[in-house]
Amino acid sequence: MQDITSTGVYGTPPAELAEAPAGSIQFSPLIPGSGKLEDQAEASLKEMVVLAPPGTVERRYATALALRALAPGRVLTILAPKDKGGSRLAKELKAFGCHVSETSRRHYRICACTRPTELAGIEEALAEGAPRFDEGLGSWTQPGIFSWNRLDPGSALLSRTLPALSGKGGDFGCGLGILSRTILASPKVTYLAMFDIDRRATEMAARNIEDARAEIRWADLRSAARLTGLDFVVMNPPFHDGGAEDQSLGQSFIRLAAESLRPGGVLWLVANRHLPYEGVLKPLFRRVTLKAEEAGYKVYEAQK
Ligand SMILES: C[S@@+](CC[C@H](N)C(=O)[O-])C[C@H]1O[C@@H](n2cnc3c(N)ncnc32)[C@H](O)[C@@H]1O
Repeated sequence: MQDITSTGVYGTPPAELAEAPAGSIQFSPLIPGSGKLEDQAEASLKEMVVLAPPGTVERRYATALALRALAPGRVLTILAPKDKGGSRLAKELKAFGCHVSETSRRHYRICACTRPTELAGIEEALAEGAPRFDEGLGSWTQPGIFSWNRLDPGSALLSRTLPALSGKGGDFGCGLGILSRTILASPKVTYLAMFDIDRRATEMAARNIEDARAEIRWADLRSAARLTGLDFVVMNPPFHDGGAEDQSLGQSFIRLAAESLRPGGVLWLVANRHLPYEGVLKPLFRRVTLKAEEAGYKVYEAQK
């Protein structure tokens, strides 16, 4: 008989609402270095605590993976803010064949269930949330990744505005690789470091960008080894951290770009017009130029 000793956690649930046992294996695709729930043997975990992601398809996929990895009779605790999928958790678990107990605390719904021997609808949920090729994007993609099923208008504007770049550069928060594809269309680009905090994005980017000049890293840019002496950095910086608007994340991306560029190097950035990035750019760069403005987005070129 298999020895079931490991426990798992997905994301960082507030400790006062649901505590993952010490030593749990982290499985969130948004925490670099985590395990991959897809690769976890079926019925191999003795407990699982999941902070459910907000997107319906992504949430059902993560729930199905968690249930599959749990040994029968073992407990899954899954929670989410009420308005970010929490109110749908119990119904979704019942559809997988689980008996659910539900509590409500601090705007969260917290569901617990034991993993039944027979699960229902798991394969369907896994297929729905799996990687696929999207004809419209011309790219491999997966539910949960930023703008996974439509071209982000900001990225589209930046792609149209970018000149042919040259030398060594970075795509900070590369997602599926939409901007990297435009950057690498220039034969003068010799190297491109592509970073993203989302494992799924880096896996899809690796399928989308088959180019020896590209190096793709699953990393949190804020703690990753710093690049220096770059000729260019391109980005559509993230403006959400864990679901909440977070302007400081974009501002840190700008500071990191400034540190990574050589004197004279350029940052190309697109942002929603309402985001206050100009004030961060100006003290860090010699020259900041508005290059395009359309449908609520602004593209800046900033020279170090
Ligand atoms: C606005 S999206 C842009 C994605 C892609 N460049 C595009 O244009 O489609 C920002 C990206 O930054 C990533 N990201 C967020 N925080 C990050 C961090 N701390 N380090 C690295 N990447 C991060 C997100 O996962 C997301 O893919």
